[in-house]
Amino acid sequence: MFFSSSNMFCLPEIETKRLLLRRIRSSDAQDIFMYSKDPEVAKYVLWRAQTSLREAKDYCRFMARQYRLDEPSSWGIVDKDSGHLIGTIGYMSYDTDNSSTELGYSLAHWKWNQGLMTEALKRVIDYTFDATNINRIEAQHETENPASGRVMEKCGMKKEGILRQRLYNKGRYVDVCLYSILRSEYKKGSLKF
Ligand SMILES: CC(C)(COP(=O)(O)OP(=O)(O)OC[C@H]1O[C@@H](n2cnc3c(N)ncnc32)[C@H](O)[C@@H]1OP(=O)(O)O)[C@@H](O)C(=O)NCCC(=O)NCCS
Repeated sequence: MFFSSSNMFCLPEIETKRLLLRRIRSSDAQDIFMYSKDPEVAKYVLWRAQTSLREAKDYCRFMARQYRLDEPSSWGIVDKDSGHLIGTIGYMSYDTDNSSTELGYSLAHWKWNQGLMTEALKRVIDYTFDATNINRIEAQHETENPASGRVMEKCGMKKEGILRQRLYNKGRYVDVCLYSILRSEYKKGSLKF
């Protein structure tokens, strides 16, 4: 199955050993709120910790709109053991002229440091090169959030450099570290997930 730029954000179900990646549904709002209300999870992302279930419902509605309009969207990350949605991973932006995209992700605090986001990101990189015409996948993290950089490294992404005060996040300009992986560097079947 190959998706051209016209239907790339339809996001089919994909899986890894421990995770199911699928479209976000309105019934996921409670699970999303459970981890998105944690300021630790929101510290280095561009959204604020949620303060009500309504905000999680709004997010689910926003995702439904993105799927419908074929705009950059995210998978929900479902823990196969519990059946609960424990995070999201997906496309933050898409540059049609240059066939490149930026990925972003977040995970429930109680699931950190178990290799789960590495598993999810490897699968999404594999899917993106296998099923779309994307040539370059980027991801960026605040320099104060090295765990995210470690995830990118473990997935074969290369560090390109620091972009000084690139983002304004929660009242401060922050330095970010940019990573990428190119189609020419990706070997089908090389990422184990
Ligand atoms: C960043 C995040 C996605 C990582 O997910 P995760 O499932 O815990 O990541 P993994 O377990 O696959 O890998 C984490 C790696 O970072 C390392 N790490 C953890 N804390 C670290 C720190 N303070 N400094 C350096 N490395 C750190 C871990 O040891 C591990 O590396 P290792 O396998 O070599 O030991 C998760 O912490 C998260 O969702 N944070 C909140 C949202 C967020 O920051 N998203 C990214 C925005 S760019």
